[in-house]
Amino acid sequence: MKWIKAYKNWLKDTHERLIHIENKIDDCINQNDLLKNDLQDIKVSHKSLFEDINNLEKLYSKSNIEITKRLIEIRERLIHIENKENEILGYTRENEFKAINQSSSKEYLSIFPDSFINGKHTLFSRNKAYYIKKNTDNNLKDYSRLLTFTLNIEKVISDNIEGSLAELGVYKGSNAAFMARYATENDRKMYIIDTFEGFSEEDISGIDSCKSKQFEDTSLEAVKEFCGEGEGIIYVKGYFPESVTKELEDDQFSFVSLDCDLYKPIRAGLEFFYPRLNKGGMIFIHDYSSGYWEGCTQAVNEFCDENELSVVLMPDKSGTAVIVR
Ligand SMILES: C[S@@+](CC[C@H](N)C(=O)[O-])C[C@H]1O[C@@H](n2cnc3c(N)ncnc32)[C@H](O)[C@@H]1O
Repeated sequence: MKWIKAYKNWLKDTHERLIHIENKIDDCINQNDLLKNDLQDIKVSHKSLFEDINNLEKLYSKSNIEITKRLIEIRERLIHIENKENEILGYTRENEFKAINQSSSKEYLSIFPDSFINGKHTLFSRNKAYYIKKNTDNNLKDYSRLLTFTLNIEKVISDNIEGSLAELGVYKGSNAAFMARYATENDRKMYIIDTFEGFSEEDISGIDSCKSKQFEDTSLEAVKEFCGEGEGIIYVKGYFPESVTKELEDDQFSFVSLDCDLYKPIRAGLEFFYPRLNKGGMIFIHDYSSGYWEGCTQAVNEFCDENELSVVLMPDKSGTAVIVR
């Protein structure tokens, strides 16, 4: 019968899920003295659930109603165990990160890719110096992000994708400074776009109404001093998109960083830059998978849906999304 086949598949999936949970719990017990009792309790309820699921097979001959009742009850217990598991994993995640940071360099390879070791992207060290100069702990030293920028800006340039570079959401200029170096060395323009006074009240609304004003401790003068005032380095101060100048409006782009966190400026940034992005050009949108800047995620999802675009997600600290034209 069809339902028996579906039911057997469900049993198989549930078995696999439980075995996975059991392994996780064992790992946690080994690592967590503090949670030992909690974990042992879960293990006991997990064991009895496992037995009950095995016994379910004996119910094949019983009525559908009886089996459905047992299935619902088992499902609820499984959900309870999964919730508990998430709670415990959340607690241990911090320790896992600490462990990763202290582990051998082999497990920490994301900041030492072959391209760097083999000297193909020699500018990484220089970029790093800019990246942390004004903000020594920039994004908790998110070097995965820095490397992703380094690799991709260099690709856009070596592939001869024409167009200017830009960053909307600059703060103290940690990204903008090394982007500006690439622009200057390759005879391209670099637009550095910000209020230079932090978030605007206008943007702290709707999905972002719970966010507070941030990033005020910067200024146009300080960023100019840091990023330089060469010929192709163009500062656009003010509330974006109202701040858009004629020069910006008429330009084409090869590499754009959107790092303005909130729904309204991210949405406005996508609407402005995507049509001006040359084929092969890239837009990097910071914070997409952060789980904190929901406005950013929503703006990207809406824009991609409306324009039939897809994103590639990066595993850097704040979850960058990338659109390639
Ligand atoms: C997270 S910070 C940028 C960090 C920077 N990219 C870095 O890597 O160091 C966000 C910036 O977006 C800017 N911003 C947000 N909304 C804006 C808007 N509507 N117009 C201009 N700038 C905006 C803020 O002023 C703030 O400096």
